[in-house]
Amino acid sequence: MYVAQPIEWTERGVVMLDQRRLPAEEISYTYTDYREVAKAIREMVIRGAPAIGVAAAMGVALGILHSSAKSVEALRSEFAEICDTLAKTRPTAVDLFWAIERMKRRFAELTGKTRDLSKIKHGMVEEAKQVHLEKRATDEAIGRLGAEFMPREGQVMTQCNAGALATAGIGTALGVIRVAYQQGHKLHVLVPETRPYLQGARLTAWELHKGGIPLTLITDNMVGHFLKTGKVGAIVTGADRIAANGDTANKIGTYQIAVLAKENGVPFYIAAPVSTFDLSIPDGEHIPIEERSAAEVTHLQGVRIAPDVPAAHPAFDVTPAKYIAAIFTERGVARAPYTESLRRLAASASHTAASIS
Ligand code: MRU
Repeated sequence: MYVAQPIEWTERGVVMLDQRRLPAEEISYTYTDYREVAKAIREMVIRGAPAIGVAAAMGVALGILHSSAKSVEALRSEFAEICDTLAKTRPTAVDLFWAIERMKRRFAELTGKTRDLSKIKHGMVEEAKQVHLEKRATDEAIGRLGAEFMPREGQVMTQCNAGALATAGIGTALGVIRVAYQQGHKLHVLVPETRPYLQGARLTAWELHKGGIPLTLITDNMVGHFLKTGKVGAIVTGADRIAANGDTANKIGTYQIAVLAKENGVPFYIAAPVSTFDLSIPDGEHIPIEERSAAEVTHLQGVRIAPDVPAAHPAFDVTPAKYIAAIFTERGVARAPYTESLRRLAASASHTAASIS
């Protein structure tokens, strides 16, 4: 089954598929400068929490690889600048910061062991490639665990794009749907278009269609109608940051879907890696919400659709934990009370397929 490749480390540099141009054009760029990678993250050439993490890890590796520093001390001061530049790109998805922290740990290990700059550069590139490999394995584990919660047949709903494009693996929410479909569940996916950036219409519809999974595209204001008519068996979305109590930030519009799901008795699930947990914050009130340009609301693909008036564009919202039936991770399935189940999953070894509640 088709799996999109949003990012790849190659001999020539980091190759990224430009997600802003999909579905009309499949154009890739090769990046050799970490500053350009930071710009690509900010401008959404690549997007989706885990994929942003992979891009940040590769951006750090690129910065180190192409550094002209002649000593470990000079490399260390450049390294701080590289990490800062990448960290300032998008504020909500915690995977970005997780990946940078991981690259920082590896840099400290390597520079603690050797002063050979070529060995440090090689080690950093290998670490970034390892982050990518692990993300792929993580998605597959999430997919296997989550698939069991999908109905044997009928409609399921998602939001935004939490597919291969968003993770650099098989996807989190779409990974669950993909695995269930491959296991023989006769699923039909309802895809809200996800205004204003249209990740549903442009990216999820494209991925599912290319993967041969049946779908129907709907506008965001049809969600309530489809949930009320009783033909949706489950909803599964990704996450950008999950607070210690289970409150979850995801693409704007997710909160209203979760509330309508509760009202209509449809289980609402989150599929996300443990790297999306932020146990340093008690609840969703502490999650920084990215405010993007108003032009993304007043314009569609560069064409003005509203008068020149103020427009708001919070890119994410927070779904309170009480609306979430379960959180699928690579280490197991968390259920309420999340304060306990998330803490236990974070502390547990990877790939233990237990149900933690
Ligand atoms: O602004 P985006 O496109 O980066 O937002 C993406 C989302 O909100 C996804 O649902 C989330 O990152 C999970 S991706 C597996």
